[in-house]
Amino acid sequence: MLPCCAVRTCHVLVLVLCLSAAEDFDWTKNDRGSFYYGTFPAGFSWGAGSSAYQTEGAWDKDGKGLSIWDVFSHRKGKILQNDTGDSSCQGYYKIKEDISLMKELKLDHYRFSISWPRIMPTGIKSDHVNEKGIKYYDELIDNLLENKITPIATLYHWDLPQVLQEKYGGWQNISMVNYFNEFANLCFERFGNRVKYWITLNNPWSVAVEGYETGEHAPGLKLRGTGAYRAAHHMIKAHAKVWHTYDTKWRGKQKGLVGISLSGDWGEPVDISNQKDIEAAERYVQFYIGWFATPIFHGDYPQVMKDFIGRKSAQQGLGTSRLPTFSSQEKSYVKGTCDFLGIGHFTTRYITQKNYQSGHGSSSYFTDRDLAELVDPRWPDPGSEWLYSVPWGFRRLLNFVKAQYRNPMIYVTENGVSEKIMCTELCDDWRIQYYKDYTNEMLKAIKDGVNVRGYTAWSLLDKFEWDEGYSERFGLYYVDFRNKNTPRYPKASVQYYKRIISSNGFPNQREVENWKRKATETCSSSNQLLAADPLTSHMEMVTEVVVPTVCTLCILLSAVFLMFLLRRHN
Ligand code: NOJ
Repeated sequence: MLPCCAVRTCHVLVLVLCLSAAEDFDWTKNDRGSFYYGTFPAGFSWGAGSSAYQTEGAWDKDGKGLSIWDVFSHRKGKILQNDTGDSSCQGYYKIKEDISLMKELKLDHYRFSISWPRIMPTGIKSDHVNEKGIKYYDELIDNLLENKITPIATLYHWDLPQVLQEKYGGWQNISMVNYFNEFANLCFERFGNRVKYWITLNNPWSVAVEGYETGEHAPGLKLRGTGAYRAAHHMIKAHAKVWHTYDTKWRGKQKGLVGISLSGDWGEPVDISNQKDIEAAERYVQFYIGWFATPIFHGDYPQVMKDFIGRKSAQQGLGTSRLPTFSSQEKSYVKGTCDFLGIGHFTTRYITQKNYQSGHGSSSYFTDRDLAELVDPRWPDPGSEWLYSVPWGFRRLLNFVKAQYRNPMIYVTENGVSEKIMCTELCDDWRIQYYKDYTNEMLKAIKDGVNVRGYTAWSLLDKFEWDEGYSERFGLYYVDFRNKNTPRYPKASVQYYKRIISSNGFPNQREVENWKRKATETCSSSNQLLAADPLTSHMEMVTEVVVPTVCTLCILLSAVFLMFLLRRHN
Protein backbone atom coordinates (compact mmCIF):
# COMPACT_ATOMS: atom_id res chain seq x y z
CA MET A 1 0.00 0.00 0.00
CA LEU A 2 1.24 3.50 -0.79
CA PRO A 3 1.76 5.78 2.23
CA CYS A 4 -0.90 8.47 2.59
CA CYS A 5 1.42 11.38 1.69
CA ALA A 6 2.48 9.60 -1.51
CA VAL A 7 -1.17 9.24 -2.50
CA ARG A 8 -1.70 12.92 -1.85
CA THR A 9 1.36 13.85 -3.93
CA CYS A 10 -0.04 11.72 -6.74
CA HIS A 11 -3.38 13.56 -6.51
CA VAL A 12 -1.64 16.91 -6.61
CA LEU A 13 0.44 15.78 -9.58
CA VAL A 14 -2.61 14.52 -11.47
CA LEU A 15 -4.38 17.80 -10.73
CA VAL A 16 -1.44 19.87 -11.91
CA LEU A 17 -1.19 17.78 -15.07
CA CYS A 18 -4.93 18.18 -15.72
CA LEU A 19 -4.98 21.92 -15.19
CA SER A 20 -1.87 22.63 -17.19
CA ALA A 21 -2.92 20.71 -20.28
CA ALA A 22 -2.80 24.08 -22.10
CA GLU A 23 0.89 23.40 -22.72
CA ASP A 24 -0.19 21.26 -25.65
CA PHE A 25 -1.52 24.31 -27.43
CA ASP A 26 1.21 26.10 -29.35
CA TRP A 27 0.53 29.84 -29.02
CA THR A 28 3.46 30.79 -31.23
CA LYS A 29 2.25 28.88 -34.28
CA ASN A 30 -0.54 30.44 -36.30
CA ASP A 31 -0.87 28.62 -39.58
CA ARG A 32 -3.12 30.74 -41.81
CA GLY A 33 -2.75 28.56 -44.88
CA SER A 34 -4.78 28.90 -48.05
CA PHE A 35 -8.23 27.47 -48.78
CA TYR A 36 -8.46 23.73 -48.21
CA TYR A 37 -10.40 21.60 -50.69
CA GLY A 38 -11.79 18.44 -49.18
CA THR A 39 -14.80 16.92 -47.51
CA PHE A 40 -16.02 16.39 -43.96
CA PRO A 41 -16.13 12.94 -42.37
CA ALA A 42 -19.11 10.80 -43.39
CA GLY A 43 -22.09 11.38 -41.11
CA PHE A 44 -21.09 14.96 -40.29
CA SER A 45 -24.29 16.74 -39.22
CA TRP A 46 -25.27 20.06 -40.83
CA GLY A 47 -27.88 22.24 -39.20
CA ALA A 48 -29.27 25.66 -38.40
CA GLY A 49 -30.47 27.14 -35.15
CA SER A 50 -32.91 29.39 -33.34
CA SER A 51 -34.08 30.11 -29.81
CA ALA A 52 -37.54 30.40 -28.29
CA TYR A 53 -37.65 34.05 -27.24
CA GLN A 54 -35.90 35.18 -30.40
CA THR A 55 -38.34 33.53 -32.82
CA GLU A 56 -41.55 32.11 -31.33
CA GLY A 57 -43.53 35.27 -30.55
CA ALA A 58 -46.89 34.36 -28.92
CA TRP A 59 -45.46 35.76 -25.69
CA ASP A 60 -48.76 35.62 -23.79
CA LYS A 61 -50.65 32.92 -25.67
CA ASP A 62 -52.07 29.55 -24.62
CA GLY A 63 -51.16 29.86 -20.95
CA LYS A 64 -47.50 30.85 -21.30
CA GLY A 65 -46.04 32.59 -18.23
CA LEU A 66 -43.83 35.66 -18.32
CA SER A 67 -40.10 35.35 -18.80
CA ILE A 68 -37.47 37.86 -17.70
CA TRP A 69 -37.12 38.83 -21.38
CA ASP A 70 -40.84 39.65 -21.71
CA VAL A 71 -40.56 41.98 -18.75
CA PHE A 72 -37.16 43.45 -19.66
CA SER A 73 -38.10 44.18 -23.28
CA HIS A 74 -41.33 45.90 -22.17
CA ARG A 75 -39.33 48.37 -20.06
CA LYS A 76 -38.72 51.53 -22.06
CA GLY A 77 -35.15 52.20 -23.08
CA LYS A 78 -33.78 48.70 -22.57
CA ILE A 79 -33.92 47.51 -26.20
CA LEU A 80 -33.00 49.43 -29.31
CA GLN A 81 -36.11 51.22 -30.58
CA ASN A 82 -38.04 49.57 -27.73
CA ASP A 83 -38.48 46.45 -29.84
CA THR A 84 -39.85 43.35 -28.12
CA GLY A 85 -40.06 39.64 -28.92
CA ASP A 86 -43.88 39.75 -28.49
CA SER A 87 -44.55 38.43 -31.96
CA SER A 88 -41.09 38.23 -33.56
CA CYS A 89 -41.09 35.67 -36.44
CA GLN A 90 -44.32 34.06 -35.14
CA GLY A 91 -42.53 30.74 -35.17
CA TYR A 92 -45.14 29.46 -32.71
CA TYR A 93 -47.64 29.42 -35.58
CA LYS A 94 -45.31 28.40 -38.37
CA ILE A 95 -43.92 24.97 -37.58
CA LYS A 96 -44.71 23.50 -40.99
CA GLU A 97 -43.58 26.55 -42.95
CA ASP A 98 -40.26 26.71 -41.13
CA ILE A 99 -39.63 23.00 -41.53
CA SER A 100 -40.12 23.40 -45.27
CA LEU A 101 -37.28 25.95 -45.19
CA MET A 102 -35.08 23.44 -43.37
CA LYS A 103 -35.95 20.85 -45.98
CA GLU A 104 -35.02 23.24 -48.74
CA LEU A 105 -31.58 23.46 -47.10
CA LYS A 106 -31.49 19.66 -46.58
CA LEU A 107 -30.55 20.12 -42.94
CA ASP A 108 -29.56 17.10 -40.87
CA HIS A 109 -30.45 18.81 -37.59
CA TYR A 110 -32.31 21.78 -36.20
CA ARG A 111 -31.35 23.43 -32.93
CA PHE A 112 -34.16 25.15 -31.03
CA SER A 113 -34.81 25.99 -27.39
CA ILE A 114 -37.71 25.16 -25.09
CA SER A 115 -39.24 28.13 -23.34
CA TRP A 116 -39.36 27.28 -19.62
CA PRO A 117 -42.33 29.59 -18.83
CA ARG A 118 -44.27 28.25 -21.84
CA ILE A 119 -44.45 24.84 -20.25
CA MET A 120 -44.12 25.85 -16.56
CA PRO A 121 -45.64 29.32 -16.33
CA THR A 122 -44.16 30.21 -12.92
CA GLY A 123 -41.05 28.08 -13.38
CA ILE A 124 -42.18 25.81 -10.54
CA LYS A 125 -43.52 22.40 -11.45
CA SER A 126 -45.82 22.02 -8.45
CA ASP A 127 -47.58 25.29 -9.42
CA HIS A 128 -48.67 24.27 -12.89
CA VAL A 129 -47.61 22.44 -16.06
CA ASN A 130 -49.02 24.00 -19.22
CA GLU A 131 -50.12 21.19 -21.52
CA LYS A 132 -50.67 23.57 -24.43
CA GLY A 133 -47.03 24.55 -24.29
CA ILE A 134 -46.00 20.89 -24.22
CA LYS A 135 -48.24 20.28 -27.24
CA TYR A 136 -46.43 22.94 -29.25
CA TYR A 137 -43.00 21.31 -28.68
CA ASP A 138 -44.51 17.86 -29.29
CA GLU A 139 -45.68 19.04 -32.68
CA LEU A 140 -42.38 20.68 -33.50
CA ILE A 141 -40.38 17.57 -32.58
CA ASP A 142 -42.76 15.19 -34.38
CA ASN A 143 -42.70 17.28 -37.54
CA LEU A 144 -38.91 17.45 -37.49
CA LEU A 145 -38.62 13.70 -37.13
CA GLU A 146 -41.18 13.05 -39.84
CA ASN A 147 -38.93 15.08 -42.11
CA LYS A 148 -35.77 13.26 -40.97
CA ILE A 149 -34.35 16.30 -39.21
CA THR A 150 -32.72 15.54 -35.87
CA PRO A 151 -33.94 17.82 -33.07
CA ILE A 152 -31.28 19.33 -30.81
CA ALA A 153 -33.07 20.91 -27.86
CA THR A 154 -31.65 23.62 -25.62
CA LEU A 155 -33.23 23.78 -22.19
CA TYR A 156 -32.21 27.31 -21.31
CA HIS A 157 -31.69 30.01 -23.91
CA TRP A 158 -32.02 32.90 -21.44
CA ASP A 159 -35.81 33.07 -20.85
CA LEU A 160 -35.98 32.46 -17.10
CA PRO A 161 -39.53 32.53 -15.68
CA GLN A 162 -40.11 36.01 -14.24
CA VAL A 163 -41.56 34.57 -11.02
CA LEU A 164 -38.22 32.93 -10.23
CA GLN A 165 -36.47 36.26 -10.78
CA GLU A 166 -38.87 38.17 -8.56
CA LYS A 167 -39.10 35.60 -5.77
CA TYR A 168 -35.45 34.53 -5.57
CA GLY A 169 -33.27 36.87 -7.63
CA GLY A 170 -32.87 34.41 -10.51
CA TRP A 171 -29.40 32.94 -10.99
CA GLN A 172 -28.07 34.87 -7.98
CA ASN A 173 -29.88 32.27 -5.92
CA ILE A 174 -28.79 28.65 -5.43
CA SER A 175 -32.44 27.52 -5.50
CA MET A 176 -32.34 27.85 -9.31
CA VAL A 177 -30.37 24.59 -9.36
CA ASN A 178 -33.37 22.57 -8.19
CA TYR A 179 -35.97 24.51 -10.14
CA PHE A 180 -33.97 24.10 -13.35
CA ASN A 181 -33.51 20.44 -12.63
CA GLU A 182 -37.27 19.94 -12.22
CA PHE A 183 -37.90 21.68 -15.51
CA ALA A 184 -35.22 19.63 -17.28
CA ASN A 185 -36.56 16.43 -15.79
CA LEU A 186 -40.03 17.22 -17.13
CA CYS A 187 -38.53 17.81 -20.60
CA PHE A 188 -36.69 14.47 -20.47
CA GLU A 189 -39.89 12.77 -19.35
CA ARG A 190 -42.12 14.31 -22.04
CA PHE A 191 -39.76 14.71 -25.00
CA GLY A 192 -36.83 12.40 -24.28
CA ASN A 193 -38.32 9.46 -26.18
CA ARG A 194 -37.72 11.55 -29.33
CA VAL A 195 -35.00 14.11 -28.46
CA LYS A 196 -31.54 12.53 -28.17
CA TYR A 197 -29.38 15.65 -28.04
CA TRP A 198 -29.85 17.99 -25.10
CA ILE A 199 -28.08 21.25 -24.39
CA THR A 200 -28.55 22.34 -20.79
CA LEU A 201 -27.53 26.01 -20.96
CA ASN A 202 -26.85 28.26 -23.90
CA ASN A 203 -23.95 30.66 -23.52
CA PRO A 204 -23.90 31.03 -19.72
CA TRP A 205 -21.11 33.62 -20.15
CA SER A 206 -23.60 36.03 -21.65
CA VAL A 207 -26.24 35.34 -18.99
CA ALA A 208 -23.69 35.97 -16.24
CA VAL A 209 -21.86 38.99 -17.67
CA GLU A 210 -24.60 40.79 -19.58
CA GLY A 211 -27.46 39.79 -17.26
CA TYR A 212 -25.82 40.33 -13.86
CA GLU A 213 -22.67 42.45 -14.40
CA THR A 214 -23.34 45.05 -17.14
CA GLY A 215 -27.14 44.79 -17.10
CA GLU A 216 -27.48 45.06 -20.88
CA HIS A 217 -29.53 41.87 -20.92
CA ALA A 218 -32.37 40.61 -18.76
CA PRO A 219 -32.71 40.72 -15.81
CA GLY A 220 -30.66 43.91 -16.19
CA LEU A 221 -28.71 43.79 -12.92
CA LYS A 222 -25.41 45.64 -12.47
CA LEU A 223 -23.75 43.72 -9.67
CA ARG A 224 -20.22 44.54 -10.76
CA GLY A 225 -17.39 42.31 -9.68
CA THR A 226 -19.60 39.72 -7.96
CA GLY A 227 -22.92 39.16 -9.78
CA ALA A 228 -21.50 37.40 -12.81
CA TYR A 229 -19.32 35.03 -10.77
CA ARG A 230 -22.23 34.09 -8.51
CA ALA A 231 -24.64 33.54 -11.42
CA ALA A 232 -22.04 31.43 -13.25
CA HIS A 233 -21.37 29.35 -10.13
CA HIS A 234 -25.04 28.46 -9.81
CA MET A 235 -25.40 27.77 -13.53
CA ILE A 236 -22.45 25.36 -13.48
CA LYS A 237 -24.03 23.50 -10.57
CA ALA A 238 -27.42 23.51 -12.31
CA HIS A 239 -25.87 22.10 -15.48
CA ALA A 240 -24.13 19.35 -13.49
CA LYS A 241 -27.30 18.42 -11.64
CA VAL A 242 -29.28 18.11 -14.87
CA TRP A 243 -26.55 15.96 -16.43
CA HIS A 244 -26.65 13.65 -13.37
CA THR A 245 -30.45 13.48 -13.52
CA TYR A 246 -30.27 12.37 -17.13
CA ASP A 247 -27.44 9.99 -16.41
CA THR A 248 -29.13 8.22 -13.53
CA LYS A 249 -32.82 8.40 -14.48
CA TRP A 250 -33.12 8.58 -18.26
CA ARG A 251 -29.98 7.59 -20.13
CA GLY A 252 -30.56 3.85 -19.82
CA LYS A 253 -33.97 4.10 -21.52
CA GLN A 254 -33.51 7.05 -23.82
CA LYS A 255 -29.86 6.67 -24.83
CA GLY A 256 -29.32 10.35 -25.52
CA LEU A 257 -26.50 12.81 -24.88
CA VAL A 258 -26.38 15.88 -22.66
CA GLY A 259 -24.00 18.76 -23.28
CA ILE A 260 -23.68 22.49 -22.76
CA SER A 261 -23.24 25.26 -25.32
CA LEU A 262 -20.39 27.64 -24.50
CA SER A 263 -19.67 30.74 -26.52
CA GLY A 264 -16.26 32.16 -26.86
CA ASP A 265 -14.34 34.59 -29.00
CA TRP A 266 -10.81 33.62 -29.84
CA GLY A 267 -8.03 35.74 -28.28
CA GLU A 268 -4.82 36.03 -30.28
CA PRO A 269 -1.70 37.58 -28.72
CA VAL A 270 -0.90 40.92 -30.36
CA ASP A 271 2.77 39.94 -30.38
CA ILE A 272 3.38 36.20 -30.40
CA SER A 273 6.99 36.70 -29.41
CA ASN A 274 5.94 38.51 -26.21
CA GLN A 275 5.26 36.19 -23.27
CA LYS A 276 3.09 38.82 -21.52
CA ASP A 277 0.78 39.03 -24.54
CA ILE A 278 0.58 35.25 -24.78
CA GLU A 279 -0.42 35.05 -21.11
CA ALA A 280 -2.96 37.85 -21.56
CA ALA A 281 -4.50 36.09 -24.59
CA GLU A 282 -4.74 32.85 -22.68
CA ARG A 283 -6.40 34.72 -19.78
CA TYR A 284 -8.93 36.14 -22.23
CA VAL A 285 -9.91 32.66 -23.38
CA GLN A 286 -9.85 31.19 -19.85
CA PHE A 287 -12.13 33.96 -18.53
CA TYR A 288 -14.46 33.24 -21.47
CA ILE A 289 -14.84 29.57 -22.30
CA GLY A 290 -12.50 28.21 -19.61
CA TRP A 291 -14.63 29.74 -16.82
CA PHE A 292 -17.28 27.08 -17.56
CA ALA A 293 -15.40 24.37 -19.44
CA THR A 294 -12.61 23.90 -16.88
CA PRO A 295 -14.96 23.02 -13.96
CA ILE A 296 -17.01 20.77 -16.25
CA PHE A 297 -13.98 18.91 -17.67
CA HIS A 298 -11.46 19.22 -14.83
CA GLY A 299 -13.53 19.94 -11.70
CA ASP A 300 -12.50 23.51 -10.83
CA TYR A 301 -12.10 27.05 -12.18
CA PRO A 302 -9.01 27.83 -14.28
CA GLN A 303 -6.03 28.50 -12.02
CA VAL A 304 -5.52 31.89 -13.65
CA MET A 305 -9.05 33.02 -12.68
CA LYS A 306 -8.52 31.89 -9.11
CA ASP A 307 -5.17 33.72 -8.98
CA PHE A 308 -6.27 37.00 -10.55
CA ILE A 309 -9.67 37.38 -8.88
CA GLY A 310 -8.26 36.16 -5.55
CA ARG A 311 -5.38 38.67 -5.63
CA LYS A 312 -7.60 41.57 -6.67
CA SER A 313 -10.17 40.73 -3.99
CA ALA A 314 -7.39 40.76 -1.37
CA GLN A 315 -6.14 44.13 -2.65
CA GLN A 316 -9.68 45.47 -2.17
CA GLY A 317 -9.48 44.35 1.43
CA LEU A 318 -11.97 41.50 1.05
CA GLY A 319 -11.56 38.46 3.30
CA THR A 320 -12.44 35.99 0.55
CA SER A 321 -12.24 35.93 -3.21
CA ARG A 322 -15.13 37.30 -5.24
CA LEU A 323 -14.85 34.07 -7.25
CA PRO A 324 -16.86 31.43 -5.36
CA THR A 325 -15.23 28.10 -4.57
CA PHE A 326 -16.32 24.51 -5.09
CA SER A 327 -16.09 22.07 -2.17
CA SER A 328 -14.24 18.85 -2.94
CA GLN A 329 -17.54 16.94 -3.27
CA GLU A 330 -18.83 19.60 -5.64
CA LYS A 331 -15.67 19.35 -7.72
CA SER A 332 -16.12 15.68 -8.32
CA TYR A 333 -19.87 16.11 -8.87
CA VAL A 334 -19.32 18.78 -11.56
CA LYS A 335 -16.34 17.13 -13.25
CA GLY A 336 -17.11 15.03 -16.32
CA THR A 337 -20.69 16.22 -16.77
CA CYS A 338 -20.53 16.67 -20.51
CA ASP A 339 -21.27 14.10 -23.22
CA PHE A 340 -20.51 16.64 -25.93
CA LEU A 341 -19.38 20.23 -25.91
CA GLY A 342 -21.40 22.80 -27.85
CA ILE A 343 -19.31 25.67 -29.17
CA GLY A 344 -20.81 28.99 -30.23
CA HIS A 345 -18.26 31.15 -32.00
CA PHE A 346 -18.47 34.34 -34.05
CA THR A 347 -15.32 36.44 -33.85
CA THR A 348 -11.76 37.11 -32.63
CA ARG A 349 -9.81 39.80 -30.79
CA TYR A 350 -6.14 40.66 -30.54
CA ILE A 351 -5.12 40.74 -26.90
CA THR A 352 -2.39 42.55 -25.02
CA GLN A 353 -1.49 42.85 -21.35
CA LYS A 354 -2.96 45.87 -19.50
CA ASN A 355 -2.95 46.39 -15.73
CA TYR A 356 -6.00 47.68 -13.87
CA GLN A 357 -5.66 48.92 -10.32
CA SER A 358 -8.22 47.34 -8.03
CA GLY A 359 -9.66 49.92 -5.69
CA HIS A 360 -12.81 49.90 -3.57
CA GLY A 361 -15.93 49.62 -5.69
CA SER A 362 -14.07 49.61 -9.00
CA SER A 363 -13.83 45.87 -9.45
CA SER A 364 -15.43 44.17 -12.41
CA TYR A 365 -15.16 41.01 -14.46
CA PHE A 366 -13.48 43.10 -17.17
CA THR A 367 -10.81 44.70 -14.97
CA ASP A 368 -10.12 41.38 -13.25
CA ARG A 369 -8.59 40.08 -16.48
CA ASP A 370 -5.83 42.72 -16.83
CA LEU A 371 -5.91 42.87 -20.59
CA ALA A 372 -6.93 45.03 -23.52
CA GLU A 373 -8.82 43.90 -26.64
CA LEU A 374 -7.90 45.18 -30.09
CA VAL A 375 -9.15 44.59 -33.61
CA ASP A 376 -7.49 44.81 -36.99
CA PRO A 377 -9.25 47.55 -38.99
CA ARG A 378 -8.84 45.41 -42.12
CA TRP A 379 -11.09 42.68 -40.73
CA PRO A 380 -14.53 42.78 -42.44
CA ASP A 381 -17.39 43.79 -40.09
CA PRO A 382 -20.58 43.72 -42.14
CA GLY A 383 -23.12 43.68 -39.32
CA SER A 384 -23.00 43.72 -35.53
CA GLU A 385 -20.52 46.20 -34.15
CA TRP A 386 -18.64 43.46 -32.27
CA LEU A 387 -18.55 40.92 -35.09
CA TYR A 388 -15.40 40.96 -37.23
CA SER A 389 -14.89 38.14 -39.67
CA VAL A 390 -11.64 36.36 -38.69
CA PRO A 391 -11.98 32.74 -39.90
CA TRP A 392 -8.54 31.53 -38.74
CA GLY A 393 -9.54 32.34 -35.13
CA PHE A 394 -12.14 29.56 -35.34
CA ARG A 395 -9.52 26.90 -36.11
CA ARG A 396 -7.33 28.23 -33.28
CA LEU A 397 -10.21 28.08 -30.79
CA LEU A 398 -11.15 24.54 -31.81
CA ASN A 399 -7.55 23.38 -31.43
CA PHE A 400 -7.32 25.07 -28.03
CA VAL A 401 -10.46 23.21 -26.89
CA LYS A 402 -8.96 19.95 -28.12
CA ALA A 403 -5.75 20.54 -26.17
CA GLN A 404 -7.38 21.81 -22.96
CA TYR A 405 -10.22 19.36 -22.50
CA ARG A 406 -8.75 16.16 -23.95
CA ASN A 407 -10.36 16.28 -27.34
CA PRO A 408 -14.06 16.21 -26.43
CA MET A 409 -16.83 15.51 -28.91
CA ILE A 410 -17.81 18.93 -30.26
CA TYR A 411 -20.94 20.23 -31.94
CA VAL A 412 -20.67 23.77 -33.24
CA THR A 413 -23.93 25.16 -31.89
CA GLU A 414 -23.71 28.71 -33.31
CA ASN A 415 -21.68 30.36 -36.05
CA GLY A 416 -22.80 33.07 -38.45
CA VAL A 417 -22.84 36.75 -39.31
CA SER A 418 -25.37 39.57 -39.30
CA GLU A 419 -26.20 42.58 -41.44
CA LYS A 420 -27.58 45.93 -40.43
CA ILE A 421 -31.26 46.79 -40.75
CA MET A 422 -30.84 49.38 -43.50
CA CYS A 423 -29.68 46.59 -45.69
CA THR A 424 -32.61 44.71 -47.24
CA GLU A 425 -30.22 43.08 -49.67
CA LEU A 426 -30.90 39.39 -50.19
CA CYS A 427 -27.71 38.96 -52.21
CA ASP A 428 -25.63 38.55 -49.06
CA ASP A 429 -22.25 37.75 -50.58
CA TRP A 430 -20.43 38.70 -47.34
CA ARG A 431 -22.39 36.00 -45.49
CA ILE A 432 -21.50 33.50 -48.23
CA GLN A 433 -17.86 34.44 -47.73
CA TYR A 434 -18.17 34.15 -43.94
CA TYR A 435 -19.76 30.68 -44.06
CA LYS A 436 -17.35 29.50 -46.71
CA ASP A 437 -14.25 30.59 -44.79
CA TYR A 438 -15.41 29.63 -41.29
CA THR A 439 -16.58 26.16 -42.31
CA ASN A 440 -13.31 25.71 -44.20
CA GLU A 441 -11.33 26.55 -41.05
CA MET A 442 -13.48 24.03 -39.20
CA LEU A 443 -12.56 21.45 -41.85
CA LYS A 444 -8.87 22.25 -41.29
CA ALA A 445 -9.41 21.83 -37.53
CA ILE A 446 -10.92 18.40 -38.16
CA LYS A 447 -7.83 17.54 -40.22
CA ASP A 448 -5.77 18.74 -37.22
CA GLY A 449 -7.55 16.06 -35.20
CA VAL A 450 -10.30 18.10 -33.48
CA ASN A 451 -13.38 15.95 -32.89
CA VAL A 452 -16.10 18.14 -34.47
CA ARG A 453 -19.25 16.15 -35.30
CA GLY A 454 -21.68 18.80 -36.44
CA TYR A 455 -22.15 22.42 -37.40
CA THR A 456 -25.10 24.75 -36.76
CA ALA A 457 -25.45 27.88 -38.87
CA TRP A 458 -26.74 30.77 -36.79
CA SER A 459 -29.47 31.40 -37.58
CA LEU A 460 -32.21 29.92 -39.73
CA LEU A 461 -34.25 33.16 -39.66
CA ASP A 462 -33.72 36.83 -38.94
CA LYS A 463 -35.05 37.33 -35.42
CA PHE A 464 -35.08 39.38 -32.23
CA GLU A 465 -31.43 40.08 -31.47
CA TRP A 466 -31.70 40.79 -27.72
CA ASP A 467 -30.78 44.36 -26.73
CA GLU A 468 -30.25 45.19 -30.41
CA GLY A 469 -33.90 44.42 -31.21
CA TYR A 470 -34.49 43.70 -34.90
CA SER A 471 -31.60 45.88 -36.06
CA GLU A 472 -29.20 42.98 -36.62
CA ARG A 473 -30.19 40.20 -38.98
CA PHE A 474 -28.40 36.86 -38.64
CA GLY A 475 -30.80 34.79 -40.75
CA LEU A 476 -30.20 32.64 -43.78
CA TYR A 477 -33.82 33.62 -44.45
CA TYR A 478 -34.88 37.24 -44.40
CA VAL A 479 -38.01 37.92 -42.34
CA ASP A 480 -40.17 40.90 -43.25
CA PHE A 481 -41.17 42.17 -39.81
CA ARG A 482 -43.12 45.09 -41.32
CA ASN A 483 -45.66 42.67 -42.69
CA LYS A 484 -47.84 41.20 -39.96
CA ASN A 485 -47.62 37.77 -41.64
CA THR A 486 -43.81 37.87 -41.22
CA PRO A 487 -43.06 36.19 -44.58
CA ARG A 488 -39.63 34.58 -45.05
CA TYR A 489 -37.42 35.14 -48.13
CA PRO A 490 -34.27 33.15 -48.92
CA LYS A 491 -31.03 35.09 -48.99
CA ALA A 492 -28.34 33.98 -51.46
CA SER A 493 -26.50 32.28 -48.58
CA VAL A 494 -29.31 29.68 -48.49
CA GLN A 495 -28.23 28.46 -51.92
CA TYR A 496 -24.58 28.48 -50.92
CA TYR A 497 -24.98 26.70 -47.58
CA LYS A 498 -27.17 24.15 -49.32
CA ARG A 499 -24.30 23.28 -51.64
CA ILE A 500 -21.79 22.94 -48.81
CA ILE A 501 -24.27 20.54 -47.19
CA SER A 502 -25.00 18.48 -50.29
CA SER A 503 -21.27 18.14 -51.10
CA ASN A 504 -20.40 17.63 -47.40
CA GLY A 505 -17.60 20.15 -47.87
CA PHE A 506 -15.66 21.69 -50.72
CA PRO A 507 -15.01 19.18 -53.54
CA ASN A 508 -12.76 21.23 -55.85
CA GLN A 509 -11.94 24.79 -56.81
CA ARG A 510 -13.89 24.92 -60.08
CA GLU A 511 -17.10 23.67 -58.54
CA VAL A 512 -16.86 25.84 -55.44
CA GLU A 513 -16.28 28.97 -57.51
CA ASN A 514 -19.45 28.20 -59.46
CA TRP A 515 -21.50 27.98 -56.28
CA LYS A 516 -21.15 31.65 -55.48
CA ARG A 517 -22.15 32.73 -58.97
CA LYS A 518 -25.17 30.42 -58.96
CA ALA A 519 -26.22 31.50 -55.46
CA THR A 520 -26.19 35.20 -56.30
CA GLU A 521 -28.01 34.63 -59.62
CA THR A 522 -31.21 33.56 -57.88
CA CYS A 523 -31.27 36.27 -55.27
CA SER A 524 -32.37 39.07 -57.58
CA SER A 525 -35.80 37.47 -58.08
CA SER A 526 -36.18 37.17 -54.28
CA ASN A 527 -35.18 40.83 -54.01
CA GLN A 528 -37.99 41.75 -56.40
CA LEU A 529 -40.50 39.79 -54.35
CA LEU A 530 -39.35 41.54 -51.22
CA ALA A 531 -39.47 44.93 -52.91
CA ALA A 532 -43.14 44.26 -53.74
CA ASP A 533 -43.87 43.40 -50.14
CA PRO A 534 -44.48 46.88 -48.69
CA LEU A 535 -47.35 47.12 -51.20
CA THR A 536 -48.95 44.01 -49.75
CA SER A 537 -48.61 45.22 -46.18
CA HIS A 538 -49.88 48.63 -47.25
CA MET A 539 -52.91 47.00 -48.86
CA GLU A 540 -53.65 45.23 -45.60
CA MET A 541 -53.41 48.52 -43.78
CA VAL A 542 -55.77 50.09 -46.29
CA THR A 543 -58.27 47.29 -45.66
CA GLU A 544 -57.95 47.79 -41.94
CA VAL A 545 -58.61 51.53 -42.17
CA VAL A 546 -61.04 51.76 -45.11
CA VAL A 547 -63.43 48.91 -44.29
CA PRO A 548 -64.36 50.14 -40.80
CA THR A 549 -64.62 53.72 -42.06
CA VAL A 550 -66.96 52.76 -44.89
CA CYS A 551 -69.08 50.68 -42.47
CA THR A 552 -69.37 53.56 -40.01
CA LEU A 553 -70.39 55.92 -42.83
CA CYS A 554 -73.06 53.47 -44.00
CA ILE A 555 -74.52 53.23 -40.50
CA LEU A 556 -74.53 57.02 -40.13
CA LEU A 557 -76.21 57.52 -43.52
CA SER A 558 -78.85 54.88 -42.76
CA ALA A 559 -79.58 56.62 -39.44
CA VAL A 560 -79.97 59.99 -41.17
CA PHE A 561 -82.19 58.41 -43.82
CA LEU A 562 -84.33 56.73 -41.13
CA MET A 563 -84.75 60.01 -39.24
CA PHE A 564 -85.76 61.70 -42.50
CA LEU A 565 -88.41 59.03 -43.17
CA LEU A 566 -89.74 59.22 -39.60
CA ARG A 567 -90.03 63.00 -39.77
CA ARG A 568 -91.93 62.82 -43.11
CA HIS A 569 -94.22 60.20 -41.66
CA ASN A 570 -95.04 62.42 -38.64
C1 NOJ B 1 -25.23 34.19 -28.99
C2 NOJ B 1 -26.65 33.95 -28.55
O1 NOJ B 1 -26.74 32.67 -27.99
C3 NOJ B 1 -27.65 34.09 -29.68
O2 NOJ B 1 -28.94 34.05 -29.14
C4 NOJ B 1 -27.40 35.35 -30.47
O3 NOJ B 1 -28.35 35.50 -31.50
C5 NOJ B 1 -25.99 35.30 -31.02
N1 NOJ B 1 -25.05 35.24 -29.92
C6 NOJ B 1 -25.63 36.50 -31.90
O4 NOJ B 1 -25.54 37.64 -31.11
